[in-house]
Amino acid sequence: MSSLLEIKNATLKFGGVVAVNDLSFTVEEGEVYAIVGPNGAGKSTVFNLISRFYDPYSGSITFDGKNLLDRNADQVADLGIARTFQNIELFDHATVLQNLLVGRHRHRRTTMLEEMLFTPRVRREEKRHREAVEEVIDFLDLQPYRNKMIAGLPYGVRKVVEVGRALATGPRLLLLDEPASGLSVEETQDMRWWIDDIRKQMGITVLMVEHDMGLVSGVSDRVLALADGAKLAEGTPAEVQSDPAVIEAYLGAGAA
Ligand SMILES: Nc1ncnc2c1ncn2[C@@H]1O[C@H](COP(=O)(O)OP(=O)(O)O)[C@@H](O)[C@H]1O
Ligand SMILES: [Mg+2]
Repeated sequence: MSSLLEIKNATLKFGGVVAVNDLSFTVEEGEVYAIVGPNGAGKSTVFNLISRFYDPYSGSITFDGKNLLDRNADQVADLGIARTFQNIELFDHATVLQNLLVGRHRHRRTTMLEEMLFTPRVRREEKRHREAVEEVIDFLDLQPYRNKMIAGLPYGVRKVVEVGRALATGPRLLLLDEPASGLSVEETQDMRWWIDDIRKQMGITVLMVEHDMGLVSGVSDRVLALADGAKLAEGTPAEVQSDPAVIEAYLGAGAA
């Protein structure tokens, strides 16, 4: 049985900087897999490779056995890969509901003409999208913010809405780029429950980049420690945290 996501020997350079260096790892269906590492380690770049924002210089990436490098960013989303961004990317002057409906866009099967005529098929589709979005709103406890403009919402709520926008697309694999960055201790705890529920109740596989080791240890099955774009260590959260190479990379030479 093949892994849900397989990255093999991926390398990406920006000019003289090797952002991702001969990196290989797999993510299995149903797991929460975390990537940790210092700033500039290449974590976001790995996400950008998977989402097909960047082309690797060499290597291969497959999802459910399909070659992602043959596909563009829209096609990758169609295969069931959704993501959030390190710096929240929502429409600030639209409501929570509207932002989540945009996330449903890839499921539209009706034509423009049908939409202009508002045919029964269009009405049925609209209803289906609304229902899917309302489910996500319920799931993430976003009812109080449903019709609020994004711009006026607290940062912590916007982080949850970003997760909701990705969930509304109905993904099989969810990529979360620093879901807890900027969150309070309490909000980080909530985020931990959301990620747990996303995996357990929705059955979605999660690949996340995160700095908060408490969150990483709490939700992840496996952790990959990245340094200078290459694999430093991989294993359970406890294994990775006690790995001498990881301790050294985080605390400086001599600490191990
Ligand atoms: N678009 C880009 N152009 C040039 N260099 C980049 C670009 N994106 C990332 N880098 C460089 O690649 C390296 C990895 O960056 P990044 O993946 O953002 O790290 P992380 O998310 O782990 O903090 C860094 O040295 C960064 O400066
Ligand atoms: Mg980053």
